[in-house]
Amino acid sequence: MKIHPMWAAYPTLAPELTATLDLIESQIQPQNQPVATALLSMINAGGKLLRPAYCLLFSQFKPVDRKKMIALAAAVESLHTATLVHDDIIDKSPTRRGLPTIAAQFGPDVAVYAGDYLFVVCFKLIAHWASDLRSVQQDGASMERLLNGELSQMARRYNQAITIDDYLNQVSGKTGQLFALAAFIGAYESDNTLRFAKTCEKIGMDIGIAFQLLDDILDYTSTAETMGKPVHEDIRQGVYSAPLILAMRQDPAAFAPYLTKEGAATDADLAAVVALVATHNGVASAQALAADYTQRALAGLAKLPDQPARTTLIRLTTQLLNRKS
Ligand code: IPE
Ligand code: IPE
Ligand code: MG
Ligand code: MG
Repeated sequence: MKIHPMWAAYPTLAPELTATLDLIESQIQPQNQPVATALLSMINAGGKLLRPAYCLLFSQFKPVDRKKMIALAAAVESLHTATLVHDDIIDKSPTRRGLPTIAAQFGPDVAVYAGDYLFVVCFKLIAHWASDLRSVQQDGASMERLLNGELSQMARRYNQAITIDDYLNQVSGKTGQLFALAAFIGAYESDNTLRFAKTCEKIGMDIGIAFQLLDDILDYTSTAETMGKPVHEDIRQGVYSAPLILAMRQDPAAFAPYLTKEGAATDADLAAVVALVATHNGVASAQALAADYTQRALAGLAKLPDQPARTTLIRLTTQLLNRKS
């Protein structure tokens, strides 16, 4: 199976990521043709595979059965993909990875089942391959925190009083957790010490927060075509992300008329919000925050053992801060 072109620059990691994707494909055998078709086209649509990449890289500090690590990386990616399939139902999103979302193409029923099926794939792989219960427990705890991040985001929709701390809490749940889990499992299943795994988990969290900040920045600076998913949808749906929150605190009254539940409903309102974010340097402020989290992650990585995996982790994490899609 073909993996995202960014991995051509990581020739030692690329074959393991290909094996990860092949394994996920081989696990997709639901007894329902639309669910199978929908899932196979989504996993073949060129997702970036960042979470399995981090899982594999954090597992390279000690010799370990690579087949086991590929299976656990596949579990983490299946969990991520499950959350995307369900997220696209909730966000009523038309596109993902440049294709119609499963919900848009097959309807919400198929999408719920398709997402559920990916949770099954994740559980089966972890249950089969984890060396002890600790990784399974970590997976359960991460899923709970991820859900709580999503619930907190839902509870604050259209709330103009949302603070950057509220946002960072949401993001550490909905996105940070999966990067933290990937790092934890990679480290724990190879090194077998909780101490090393916890250190890597913390680094994964910082990487995940920086990654979501960048994603929310690209919502203002990129296009739907480049991103493979719609832009500015969060504003319309009352989900206020870092560029808007940081701009809004400069002059809340200027934003207020456009941000009622009915506001930002028209294209003109939306354009007004985007223009106000630009006037108040929302993107630059969010970039500074993303750089902060990346620096924290890089400082954590610098303290890991001086091995080739560390160099690759630093290179990948630096690259993510500068990504354009
Ligand atoms: C999308 O994640 C959801 C966010 C946390 C922003 P990715 O951008 O990693 O999604 P794929 O897997 O590459 O499509
Ligand atoms: C991504 O949510 C996180 C989860 C799916 C849990 P978003 O709604 O922010 O991500 P995109 O923009 O749809 O990829
Ligand atoms: Mg979404
Ligand atoms: Mg969402």
